[in-house]
Amino acid sequence: MGGQGDEQGVLRMRDEMAPETAALAAWYRRHARDLPWRRPPGAAGRADPYRVWLSEVMLQQTTVAAVRGYFARFTARWPTVADLAAAEDGEVMAEWAGLGYYARARNLLACARAVTARGGFPDTEAGLRELPGIGPYTAAAVAAIAFGRGATVVDGNVERVVSRLRAIETPLPASRPAIREAAARLTPPDASAGVGAVDPGDHAQAMMDLGATICTPRKPACILCPVAGECEGRRRGIAGDLPNKTAKPVKPVRRGEVYVARRGEDWLLERRPPRGLLGGTLGFPTVAWSEAPDPAPPFAASWRKAGAVRHTFTHFHLELDVMVTEGAGNPDRGEWAPLAPGDLPTLFRKVHAVAIG
Ligand code: ADE
Repeated sequence: MGGQGDEQGVLRMRDEMAPETAALAAWYRRHARDLPWRRPPGAAGRADPYRVWLSEVMLQQTTVAAVRGYFARFTARWPTVADLAAAEDGEVMAEWAGLGYYARARNLLACARAVTARGGFPDTEAGLRELPGIGPYTAAAVAAIAFGRGATVVDGNVERVVSRLRAIETPLPASRPAIREAAARLTPPDASAGVGAVDPGDHAQAMMDLGATICTPRKPACILCPVAGECEGRRRGIAGDLPNKTAKPVKPVRRGEVYVARRGEDWLLERRPPRGLLGGTLGFPTVAWSEAPDPAPPFAASWRKAGAVRHTFTHFHLELDVMVTEGAGNPDRGEWAPLAPGDLPTLFRKVHAVAIG
């Protein structure tokens, strides 16, 4: 019997070595995606915790394809966690611009500084959980991938794979505890225990790769799947319909005006307050977004509507009228500064594109 542990009050028992785990490991050795933060499967040593952590934070809510360029730029500019810890907040926000979920960038810096202050990353899931901005998912992923801990890593891909494999029909999110329990049973023990033939970091990434490339949300390629023979969802003919999900509430629409003013080479820009949506990012002045916003231009002038942008956040859709002026005035907020549109979050890149026609 592999490790036993008390996790969230549930006595966790690992199967000797589930046939699924062995089949998945064999598949991963041949088909692992070649990703810049990975140690190739079966290779000696471990992946650099800094690169693993950075990639995991970037990959939350974002695809591998979108992350690659950002990861390359971050690691070229800040090759170690100490380099990142020493960076200016604004530099990191500018490199992060376009990745979305800007609280992640703020937490990234706070975490880099905490890690540097303590002399390196903790090498356990519990230790990692204590760092700022590291939640259960990231702690488990870094513990498994960078430190070979037998931590159970459950992301959206893994939820899909496991709910199909075990034909868990309870809708998400209510099914999460059952999914976690089933995923834990498939997880190999700590690599350092020397008893497991499968590395827990490879296992975690094999589950993710299976979900991303074969056990896809629509039309899973079961014919190519290394665990099709063990898949209860497939046996019952419901794999492609899982996981069931509780219907989401419809997103409300918020509206507002955004003001784009230019004076020669300079634009009127404003750094948003550190907390809240797009916190700490650079943008154009806007009114507070609401269902019935009041116009509030930053200076009195003749403003005209150049167009509108629509942007979807986690909890609402935003529709902004893009107001422009040729007039000059003394703004009551923001600063005149040259603009690199790449330093803006996606919402304000769209606004800029509409404003310049
Ligand atoms: N998604 C999140 N983390 C990942 C990883 N390490 N490999 C592949 N996809 C991922």
